[in-house]
Amino acid sequence: MPKPASSYVCQNCGAASAKWSGRCDACGAWNTIIEEASAIPVPGARGQGLPKGRKGQLVGLKGEIAPPPRLKTGMEELDRVAGGGFVQGSAALVGGDPGIGKSTLLLQALAALARKGEAAVYISGEEAIAQVQLRAERLSLTDAPVMLASLTNVADIIATLSEEPMAKVVVIDSIQTLWTPVIESAPGTVSQLRAGSEALIRLAKSKGISVLFVGHVTKEGDIAGPKVIEHLVDTVLYFEGDRGHQFRILRAVKNRFGPTDEIGVFEMSDAGLKEVNNPSRLFMGARENPTPGSAVFAGIEGTRPLLMEVQALVSPSVLGNPRRAVVGWDQNRLAMVLAVLEARGGVAIGANDVYLNVAGGLKVREPAADLAVAAALLSSMTGKMLPQEAVFFGEIALSGSIRPVSQSEARLKEAAKLGMKRAILAGNGEAPQTKALELKLLESVSDLVAYVASR
Ligand code: TYD
Ligand code: MG
Repeated sequence: MPKPASSYVCQNCGAASAKWSGRCDACGAWNTIIEEASAIPVPGARGQGLPKGRKGQLVGLKGEIAPPPRLKTGMEELDRVAGGGFVQGSAALVGGDPGIGKSTLLLQALAALARKGEAAVYISGEEAIAQVQLRAERLSLTDAPVMLASLTNVADIIATLSEEPMAKVVVIDSIQTLWTPVIESAPGTVSQLRAGSEALIRLAKSKGISVLFVGHVTKEGDIAGPKVIEHLVDTVLYFEGDRGHQFRILRAVKNRFGPTDEIGVFEMSDAGLKEVNNPSRLFMGARENPTPGSAVFAGIEGTRPLLMEVQALVSPSVLGNPRRAVVGWDQNRLAMVLAVLEARGGVAIGANDVYLNVAGGLKVREPAADLAVAAALLSSMTGKMLPQEAVFFGEIALSGSIRPVSQSEARLKEAAKLGMKRAILAGNGEAPQTKALELKLLESVSDLVAYVASR
């Protein structure tokens, strides 16, 4: 057999090329390309002739469809994000920064499954058995019949998992420690990661095991990140949160068996992760002493409405180039809202430092937050308090008009449920029907400026 050509593989995105370069053409990352002796085909390389294939069977779109059997942990926040439990014989990736709580979450999930009688195996390549046992003790999970092993060699893992009794669910912590002897590159490189997870996914599919991979997200790209195997697995969940906060959010970014954009909210404690079933209370902040610059945004995360507090601070700048600092929202989106307020609302905000923060460490991605952000900015700038029991939502267009957003009813219902009295929203659409809240409809940012000034 000819020696496979070595290829240059980006450790960030996994793209292979025939020559080295400083910057990856596929993902744009710098200094992430290293040479790997591997069987990854290099586009354009010679000797890649395919053997003659077998004819596959083509069928129609209509067929017998049974809902896939699922493993429910009973941790509602986790099950919902997974689309109603983990599907048997599927592979999921749980990615996140180191130390965010992935191992804790998955150990708790396994223990919950094991207590329900499912055969659960935890394979730790990062921590020694004693460390995992210590964690289990701290989390009071030692009574759960979870089986442990400390392995990194994929062949050993497969041999262990192929033993009877067959496991139903397996956690591999983490993909970065996986290692196969048939591949020459060092553990943690793209080829190792890909080969290892591919072999395990094949095992999962053939034996009906649910595999949950843990993957650390790396900023520098010095070890291959979970991006490389995202397309191999059925479900990709990201565990995120702010180190300074107790809240952790599990977010589905890909799910072949369920909706994406669903989130699950957890709170860290000494006894592990606790589910937060009513997250709105949490993200609204402590609102006993309201100050100007705070607005409540009625958002939607996945299928769930969620109220959160947006805080702004606008203060005269001493710098030639005023500061813009954003936590939990998009920097470009803030720049846009500021520009629209200035150009269409006639508010001279430009020479001020602007700080924006979403309470609780949540990351908001919806453009529907525009109106709440603009209201918070204006409130801070003018020193006028926004009404206490009010929610804001609406998208701001570059023209200065305020656009209606989807799922208004669900947003209003959540606001009413949490004791809000008013909602300030887009007025140039069909007004949603509600008796519980007093509605204030705004058509443009000038309406908003006038509204805040009249407070
Ligand atoms: P860990 O689960 O090890 O994070 P990861 O696997 O993502 O690297 O958690 C990191 C640390 O945080 C660990 O020392 C335990 C601690 N921790 C708690 O004390 N309580 C919690 O609820 C969680 C999630 C973590
Ligand atoms: Mg860990």
